[in-house]
Amino acid sequence: MEDTPLMRELARDHARRKQLDGVEFAAPETTRVITIANQKGGVGKTSTTVNVAAALALGGLNVLVIDADPQGNTSTALNIEHHAEVASMYEVLVESAPLQDVVQDVPDMDGLLCAPATINLSGAEIELVSLVARENRLRNAIRDYLEHRDDEGLPSLDYVLIDCPPSLGLLTVNALVAAREVLIPIQAEYYALEGLSLLLNNIELIRQHLNPDLVVSSIMLTMYDARTRLAAQVAQDVREHFPEQTLETTIPRSVRISEAPSYGQTVLTYDPGSSGALAYRAAAHELTIRPAP
Ligand SMILES: Nc1ncnc2c1ncn2[C@@H]1O[C@H](COP(=O)(O)OP(=O)(O)OP(=O)(O)O)[C@@H](O)[C@H]1O
Ligand SMILES: [Mg+2]
Repeated sequence: MEDTPLMRELARDHARRKQLDGVEFAAPETTRVITIANQKGGVGKTSTTVNVAAALALGGLNVLVIDADPQGNTSTALNIEHHAEVASMYEVLVESAPLQDVVQDVPDMDGLLCAPATINLSGAEIELVSLVARENRLRNAIRDYLEHRDDEGLPSLDYVLIDCPPSLGLLTVNALVAAREVLIPIQAEYYALEGLSLLLNNIELIRQHLNPDLVVSSIMLTMYDARTRLAAQVAQDVREHFPEQTLETTIPRSVRISEAPSYGQTVLTYDPGSSGALAYRAAAHELTIRPAP
């Protein structure tokens, strides 16, 4: 057989299918809270959040997705109601509503929950400024919600994934204060590393002043096109800079991944056999087997 990128891709998908079929993912000892952040727009934050969350849930884990982006793309992709009248992260962050009042079950997905974002959340960036403990509001809400589940005898959550807007404003700050771990998606394209030092500086500031436990635990290469030398070069650069953090699994550029949200689905249900679905399942599995920081 010829050794072409396509043949390699088919062989890899075949291996992944065999490796992942029916695999139960190991639950962490305590809830892992992971923020998916990058102030650069369109790098795959939302796609990574929803598809990793779906893969974890499919692996048998209990997962809450928090949509902290007023664009509400995560809520759309998970088919969660999020018109302006729906109780959302706005009420949680600005009006101190408990998370249990806004969390919804993701349809047709066992073990997956979502706290939606509505357009109201766009006002939060400004309204938060004058509130007390404005950087800690999401952290406190998650802490109270985990306690509430415990009190009610509900299954404990294995993962909380927080999707951020493409900015470093107060919504992203809240997400970085609430988490123990940051996952940074990086698009395997030219300029990929531009802006990364700004993000890392911000994370360092938050670590020093607000959240000493915060670590960048994972970097995920997204929209990877194996046919281009540029993608390979970017991947190599990222791995050289972040040898420990960069996941072995890269997410391929895939039309299926970009189509799925318009059907209110993740790529895992939209086209389970596609390269994109298999890659996100492999990436989620990798997250669960790497030691939690
Ligand atoms: N692996 C992929 N292959 C092809 N298209 C992709 C892939 N990942 C994401 N996309 C598409 O690229 C666009 C940006 O992706 P996504 O919304 O996940 O990025 P984002 O970082 O959340 O964006 P924003 O900064 O606006 O929140 C979307 O149209 C999405 O469908
Ligand atoms: Mg997004």
